[in-house]
Amino acid sequence: MNRTGAMPAEIQWEDFTMALSESLDKVSLGKIVVIREQLMKAQAAGQTVYRLESGDPSFSVAPHVLAALQAAAAAGKTHYIPNDGIPQLRAALRDKIRRKNNIPAVTENDIFVTNGAMHALFVAFCCLLATGDEVIVPDPMWTEVVENVKLAGGVPVGVPLKFEKDFEYDPADIRKHITPRTKAIFLNTPHNPTGAVLSKETLLEIVAIAEEHGLWIVSDEAYEDVRYAPNQHHSIASLAPHYLEKIVSVFSFSKSYAMSGLRVGCIVTTSATLQSRIPKLLRCTINGVNSVAQWAALAALEGPQDQIPVMQAEYALRRSMLFDALTGIEGLRVFKPNGGFCMWAELDPKIYPRLGCKDAAELSEWLAQMGIGSAPGDAFGETCHDAIRFAFSCDTAMVRDGAVALRQALTGPGIAAADR
Ligand SMILES: Cc1ncc(COP(=O)(O)O)c(C=O)c1O
Repeated sequence: MNRTGAMPAEIQWEDFTMALSESLDKVSLGKIVVIREQLMKAQAAGQTVYRLESGDPSFSVAPHVLAALQAAAAAGKTHYIPNDGIPQLRAALRDKIRRKNNIPAVTENDIFVTNGAMHALFVAFCCLLATGDEVIVPDPMWTEVVENVKLAGGVPVGVPLKFEKDFEYDPADIRKHITPRTKAIFLNTPHNPTGAVLSKETLLEIVAIAEEHGLWIVSDEAYEDVRYAPNQHHSIASLAPHYLEKIVSVFSFSKSYAMSGLRVGCIVTTSATLQSRIPKLLRCTINGVNSVAQWAALAALEGPQDQIPVMQAEYALRRSMLFDALTGIEGLRVFKPNGGFCMWAELDPKIYPRLGCKDAAELSEWLAQMGIGSAPGDAFGETCHDAIRFAFSCDTAMVRDGAVALRQALTGPGIAAADR
């Protein structure tokens, strides 16, 4: 509308989305952030803490990545760079996506470099969704996905995941949640928070559903390299070359190369509509990802890849430590993740009176007071209140000691009678 309140003829009411500031009022900052801040304060005050709430890889970046970062800065590669990413990085990503993700039709023009996968999701949903469009999401799901759908004016529709199905998306359940407003199916494999890895068969069924209903697929593959043998990662786009135009794939350097603070990820899309919108949003928001971080990302892709199996082996060790510590505790049913570095445990409500707390959120707070990080189930969705997540991305010694402390806490008398 113009200042007099009249609406120019060419603009329709449905062109107006809710203002971002209004959408922000519907978004939470996240319970994990609150717990993280509490633990960081305790850590700064000298208390022993076990950072099992945080999903940040403990590893350092590889020496050649660090060298590239420093060399780029020293060489003055600190100026504005192309909005969609430096051409060298887009070309290297193209090669990686063709070879490793088995999506041969992708060209460098289909790749947009973003500030990590988080930003990629924000940009993808903003460019894809109209107000009120529904997006099918797994429940539980790493919170920021749902929040980014809302920020883009969309409506997340949760599909409950079940322990009995190893927390894989159930295609029959996806079907039940499709409505005339459904625009996209979002998937994340390996999955945060459960550690589920989607099989080829499930991915193919998701493609079939999407095709049948003309839906988009948004695939978050941030954890593609964090998985445990014999689980394999399949990029859904590799299984559906005929449907590529409606599949948006998101990748990240944060987990594969422990580059979480450098903030590099990307969106891959062959859709002409998205390709015309994404550069505008990138231009008006970030105007290109940090230049030196992009040179570091290029080195990560082009250099030796031997850090990945080393990290995988270390995560496997931590997974065993935590899984063994949590196994056999009354009231706790723990899932051994097939990928990712989070362990998801369902809680039998009987555990609450035994430990002297009223729900998982209070349990999580109590653990935090003892310096043990966790994230309560309701931070991840509507149907998982009786659950708790522990991450094992902090260093191995901390996971080992944290696992012992956690087992003691969960098998002990609970919140001391005096505190109850
Ligand atoms: C499922 C999932 N997707 C995306 C991200 C974002 O990763 P980044 O923005 O660091 O690339 C995370 C971060 O933890 C995640 O858990």
